[in-house]
Amino acid sequence: MTPANAPGKFILFGEHAVVYGQPAIAFPLRQLRATARIDIIPDAPRGHVRLHAPDIHYQAWLHEANEENPLRKIVQLTLDEIHAHISPAIEVQVSSEIPVASGLGSGAAVSTAIVRALCQHFEQPLELARQSELVYEVEKIHHGTPSGIDNTVIVYDQPIYYIRGRQPEHLAISGELTFILADTGLPSNTGQIVGNVRRAWEQDRSTFNTFFNEIGQIAERAKFATAAGDLKSIGKLMDENQELLEQIGVSSDTISGLLKTARDCGAYGAKLSGAGVGGIIITLVQPSASTTIVNALRKAGVIWTGVTKV
Ligand code: MEV
Repeated sequence: MTPANAPGKFILFGEHAVVYGQPAIAFPLRQLRATARIDIIPDAPRGHVRLHAPDIHYQAWLHEANEENPLRKIVQLTLDEIHAHISPAIEVQVSSEIPVASGLGSGAAVSTAIVRALCQHFEQPLELARQSELVYEVEKIHHGTPSGIDNTVIVYDQPIYYIRGRQPEHLAISGELTFILADTGLPSNTGQIVGNVRRAWEQDRSTFNTFFNEIGQIAERAKFATAAGDLKSIGKLMDENQELLEQIGVSSDTISGLLKTARDCGAYGAKLSGAGVGGIIITLVQPSASTTIVNALRKAGVIWTGVTKV
């Protein structure tokens, strides 16, 4: 059976504010992928489904797995959705190249790959909007109150301008954008960080609503800047977005140090990406400067770098 796969993702503008209804911009990260495959297990009892994630040494029968297990949840939701009739037992095997807790959407990518593999195996196509809804259900286990941006950008696999609860808009881009992504190596626990932001918002709604509105305006201006291919403006907006993320309290000294390194080497702009605290940073660069900036970031201690063009 051909494996199905799904890309990672990165957010360029609007993380956190997107949870509160502001627009955000995100891209699929196609060079890192999650993969799922379905195989028949001839010697197992008919109708059984086995979950297998060799990367994390996990194997269990579906009906014995914890009900809150994200693999169990997405497999069960998909089987119910497509009314799958399981006769010979099957194994759902998943693996992923996407680092976890880094802001690259590993959870949503694994879920999406599983939905696709099951739809393919049972020859039951499912429209993208519905795939995204199923993955969103599992995102709630991972993240508590997700905006839906991760499942949307990963399932649709295209640059998006996203507002919670609306159909995603395809993001227009003129020319080419070269980004360097770099992993701080520090964990970024999305559920916990989004929860901390929510508590801070509950204590001072007016200040936090102002931050979120300003971030939303940045994302809106960025939509026009990407359509015009205006690299300087996009970079400046990234820096402005970062300042607001610092005020919200989701940056860290490690992140600030790495952003300074990238800017000192001539990046157009730089910011954290995803929930923050740790995880990845992202910088917009001139292609000719990318080797210098990658080397400087590695010297400054990042554990992974990737150059991606959109
Ligand atoms: C996580 O990738 C992005 C956040 O805005 C959370 C969300 O949108 O669900 C921090």
